[in-house]
Amino acid sequence: MTEQVVTTPVMDTYARFPLAVVEGKGSYVWDDKGTKYLDYTSGIATCNLGHVPSVVEKKVQEQLTKLWHCSNLYHIPVQEQLAEILVQYSCGDRVFFCNSGAEANEASIKIAKKYANDKDGVEQPLIITFKNSFHGRTMATLSATGQEKIQNGFTPLTPGFSYLPFNDMDALEQLKKIKPAAVLFELVQGEGGVIPADKEWVQQVAAICKENDSLLMVDEIQTGMGRTGSLFLYEQYDIEPDVISLAKGLGSGIPIGAIIAKEHVAKSFSPGTHGSTFGGNPIATTAGLATVEYLTETDILLKAKENADYLWNQLEQLATSSKVIKQVRGKGLLIGLEVEGQAIDFVNKAREDYQLLIVVAGPSVVRILPPLNTTKEEMNQFLHVMEQLFN
Ligand SMILES: Cc1ncc(COP(=O)(O)O)c(C=O)c1O
Repeated sequence: MTEQVVTTPVMDTYARFPLAVVEGKGSYVWDDKGTKYLDYTSGIATCNLGHVPSVVEKKVQEQLTKLWHCSNLYHIPVQEQLAEILVQYSCGDRVFFCNSGAEANEASIKIAKKYANDKDGVEQPLIITFKNSFHGRTMATLSATGQEKIQNGFTPLTPGFSYLPFNDMDALEQLKKIKPAAVLFELVQGEGGVIPADKEWVQQVAAICKENDSLLMVDEIQTGMGRTGSLFLYEQYDIEPDVISLAKGLGSGIPIGAIIAKEHVAKSFSPGTHGSTFGGNPIATTAGLATVEYLTETDILLKAKENADYLWNQLEQLATSSKVIKQVRGKGLLIGLEVEGQAIDFVNKAREDYQLLIVVAGPSVVRILPPLNTTKEEMNQFLHVMEQLFN
């Protein structure tokens, strides 16, 4: 066996592309040789306002001169302001802050267990998740994830999860009987191939949860923060989750995660039950506050919807003439192209030949994640590459 050449001491948890990114502004990044790329990955649905957005940059720069960290032993005014605005624009009442998506789902899982224990004395609560889902890489969140390829090699898994087929009305009969403590799911399975949940199915899940007194928990880590044209995607499904998990776009690239929960659920997190040294730190919540203010106080969500309409229209037209694109799917600016052949080959060609960054979502899906405020000119540049790749 030939030994792999190690070029960096960073562990190989990602199959990195041969590209070193050193700078970013708006929809573009630059590599270490000065080559400019159109970035339609947005740091995997994270830089929703583009790279280094001035509104966030300015506030973070100011905060950097004042206070970086003080721990959650004290009140952090900017953290409380961010919690207030998240509560104002969601159906939830209280917020817990952490540092990543996996940590946000860990918090969802923990609060669901504690709530079941507090309410009914349940000692072995069960959480239902769905096949093909993705909820993170920590032990509990990979156990919640309904994909064997993510779990392989990491047994014993955290117990307490059971997986039902996604978007499957018949399987909901089982959900009715199981009466779990909670149901956790994505409204678009992002990593699983950009598969949107059907509205009727979601509403049925919500109705069963209500009937069974199971918590309805949505993982909006990829779909939240304006990515699909509304601040949260659950709004488009006319449901009211008990718990919402967030990360990615919340800090525009500064690491932050959060859960928003309804008051009766949030009460289960009392002092000493959960925590995080860095969670809700002044720098991260300053970035979060500036991001959420921008998303809620400007017309950017409208712009995101217009941009999505334009791209969907053009991509669907391209799909009718292309022999390679089998389906265009997703929501808003979380777009998946199911293709004939290996998606990674198209991603590589886009980067190498056209300086366009896009990403895969499984072996046969090309995922497109433009910044919400991408311009018409950038969209046309992107569409030109799509024509070259797929016609
Ligand atoms: C839906 C969903 N949940 C959880 C996660 C995990 O987030 P993180 O990588 O920040 O831990 C991701 C990341 O891709 C995600 O898309």
